[in-house]
This record gives sequence, C-alpha cells and structure tokens, in this order.
Amino acid sequence: MKICIVGAGYVGLTTATALAVFGHEVLCVDRDQAKIDGLLQGKVPIYEPGLEDLIIENCKENRLHFSSNVKESIRDYPIILIAVGTPSQNDGSCNLSFIKQVIEIIASTINNYKIIITKSTVPPGTNEWIQQTFLEMGIKDDLFDIVSNPEFLREGRALWDIFHPNKLVFGTKTDRPLEVLKKLYQKGSAPFVFTSLTGAELIKYASNVFLATKISFANEMARICDVFQVDYADLHKGLGMDPRIGPDFLNAGLGFGGSCLPKDLSSLKHSALSHQLETKLLDAVMEINDTQIELYLKKLSTELPDLADKQITVWGVTFKPGTDDLRSSPAIALIQQLLQKGCRVHAYDPMVQLISSDVTSHSNQYESVSNSDALIIATEWEQFLNCNWSEVKSRMKRSIVLDARNCVDGEIVRRQGLQYMGVGKR
Ligand code: UDX
Repeated sequence: MKICIVGAGYVGLTTATALAVFGHEVLCVDRDQAKIDGLLQGKVPIYEPGLEDLIIENCKENRLHFSSNVKESIRDYPIILIAVGTPSQNDGSCNLSFIKQVIEIIASTINNYKIIITKSTVPPGTNEWIQQTFLEMGIKDDLFDIVSNPEFLREGRALWDIFHPNKLVFGTKTDRPLEVLKKLYQKGSAPFVFTSLTGAELIKYASNVFLATKISFANEMARICDVFQVDYADLHKGLGMDPRIGPDFLNAGLGFGGSCLPKDLSSLKHSALSHQLETKLLDAVMEINDTQIELYLKKLSTELPDLADKQITVWGVTFKPGTDDLRSSPAIALIQQLLQKGCRVHAYDPMVQLISSDVTSHSNQYESVSNSDALIIATEWEQFLNCNWSEVKSRMKRSIVLDARNCVDGEIVRRQGLQYMGVGKR
C-alpha cells in the first residue's frame, strides 16, 4: 500500500519506519526542511534504539522516502496518516492547529478516494469534527473515510511496541476502510478493536490516564508507607503479585513526566469540563503528581535543613531512562526548585550533557558528586543501580543519598557509610 505520513516527529518517524518494514511504500513528510534534509542524509532527529539503522535500511530498499513538499505528497497518496504534534495550551487544552492545517491541505487537494487516519492524540470529538468539516466544505462522503487509530508507543521501546502490539484500535464511521486497515500493520496475535471515532480517541486517553492513576496511587501509598515506616518496595512486591493488580506502573518516586501522560491528563480533564463534567479522580492524580517534588525536597531538608548554597548533585535528568527527552521531566522540575532555593546544582545524565547555564554538567557520574552535600537520583538509569558506592562516598563532602526512584539497594549504599533515603522508607 502507498501511505503518506504527515509529521516526522516521534510518532510519525517510528510509524513510517515500521510500515516500511511491513512492506508498504511510505512517504514521510514534514514542513521542517532542515529535519527532512537531515533524514535524507540518514540523520535521525530523535533517539530511539534501533530506529536509525532501520530508517537507513528501508530508505536504501526504496520503501521509505522523505519530503518537505507536504501539499503535493498529500494530494498524490491514497492513504494519509496524520502524526503531527498536539501540544498542550496554557489552560491544559490541546492545541489542534497543526491538525487543522493538515485537514485544510487535504480538503483543498482531494480529488480521489482517500483514507485519512489520525494517529496524533486528539481530544474526544476531534475526528467527528474532521468528518463534519469535510462535508461542510462540500466534499462528498464517498471521497473519504476518516479513521482514528491511536498509538500506544513508549519512548525508548517504541519499535518493540509497534512490532508487538497488544491491540490495534481503529475508530471508523463506516465499514468501508476496514479491509485496508486490517492489512496496515503486521498484527501477530494482537486483537483488533473496532469502535467509533470518539471511542478510539477515548481508549487512547483512558490508557494514559489509567497509567498516570496507577503512578499517583503508588506515590500516595509510598507517602502512607513513610508515615508507618514501612518499606514501599515490600508493599510494591506484595501488591504486584496479585494478578488482578500486577506490578507495572507502580514504581513510586518523583512522579510521571514526558510528552504524553501529563498532557493527556490535562487535555481529558479540559474536554470533560467543557461538557460541565468534573473529573475528581483525574484532579487528584494530577495534584499528587504536582506535589511529589516538594515531598522529596522536604525529605532532603530533614538532613539538610538549610539548602542555600549547598552543592547538590542530580543523577538523571531525562523524564525516564532510555531516552534523551527532557519534556516535562520531573528531574528538570526538581533542578529548578533546587536552584530557586539557592543550591549549587551539579548534574550527570548518560544521554544529556548540556542542561542549563545555571547547572554544572558532568560527563562522568563520579566526578559529578565531588564535594557535594547530597546526591539525588532522579531518573533510574541502569548505570546508577550497581555503581561504585565507595567511590561516591570518597568524593562527597557530606554523605546524603536521596534515591527518588527507589532504584538502588539501600543496604549496599549504607554499608559504604552513606546516609540513604529512599521512597517510603528512611
Ligand atoms: C506513555 C505511554 O506508556 C504510552 O503507551 C503512550 O503511547 C505515550 O505515553 P512514555 O511517555 O514513553 O509512554 O513513558 P512511560 O514509560 O509511560 O512513562 C511515563 C512517566 O511515568 C515517566 O516519567 C516514568 O518515569 C513515570 N513512571 C512510569 C513512574 O513514575 N512509575 C512507574 O511505575 C512507571
């Protein structure tokens, strides 16, 4: 099949590459000329394990192409997959201006039947609005089918997720595009979920909001563990063994970040409110997440009451390990609060070097703790898990280690004479 993907961002590039691997002829377009020029030279603008090799291979095999000529490409392809950004606005609602621009181009160039697939995460009702807009513009409904086909890709594991989906969700208005959609992905044993346009949009939001809810639940339980001096790791273990609950997404710590969970939570709340519906659970999930950093700073202040002019080292600045993405990173928010309190912040991250001019960045994790009053582990990168704690101890000025991701063995750290504080335990 011939597919044009609009948007060479995270979702667009990963999806374009996977569809090329599945044997389709894929053209990925983006109006950012510099990005397309880079991609044509094999330079991938995002870090995703395995993606660069696959892009180069599929370009060589002539299955994957790139172009900045958005209008012509959209006009010439029968299947258009929209993967443009839908960022948050200041009031928490979703900015649909990029989606609207693509829709305008499709509407102004459509001259034969097209399947238009929305991959971007959009608020409930958006695909119905697209359908309606086309009809109002006089485009006959036998000329197009709108499909809502959300993605469930995790950064750092996006290729695994797209090659091993646990379901494929398609929202449609009619059965007409179903046979084509069934052949779009290599589904393995994944079941199809066919639903309405808005049903598919809501499945996507509900998934991310549920994951966020699990994390805030874990963080609230960790607060309770703290009060009763119970190790949260024990609670997590016991809780996760119940197959009805499971251990995933119950890691307590600094809270959730990234480009999706916080944005989708705000956007769904905003959509509900626009229908006069309060979202008490969503509000609580957000509130817990928004106060996690404060909680860890309080923990730190039990050992270091006056933070002004203290040297604090932060290990890990990305929003999670396995990515170079700093968007809505809890570690960055933590650094900002430390700076506001007058701390001298040093940082080390295996993927990110330059954080800000106010922060001293290091390329070596041990060097980064030299002369520090406290070390905070803000992102659980693998290399922190079994590091040389005696070296850390020998370099630090004071010996406070705050494990804000509960990722290292506190006993091992303490054995080196360091003062370890974890999540839901002292
Ligand atoms: C998420 C969804 O998982 C994915 O399905 C969707 O398509 C996009 O949004 P992603 O943003 O890549 O993926 O990150 P994810 O792995 O879900 O982690 C989100 C945040 O939650 C990170 O900041 C992570 O550190 C945090 N997290 C995750 C926890 O605090 N505890 C956990 O137990 C799990």
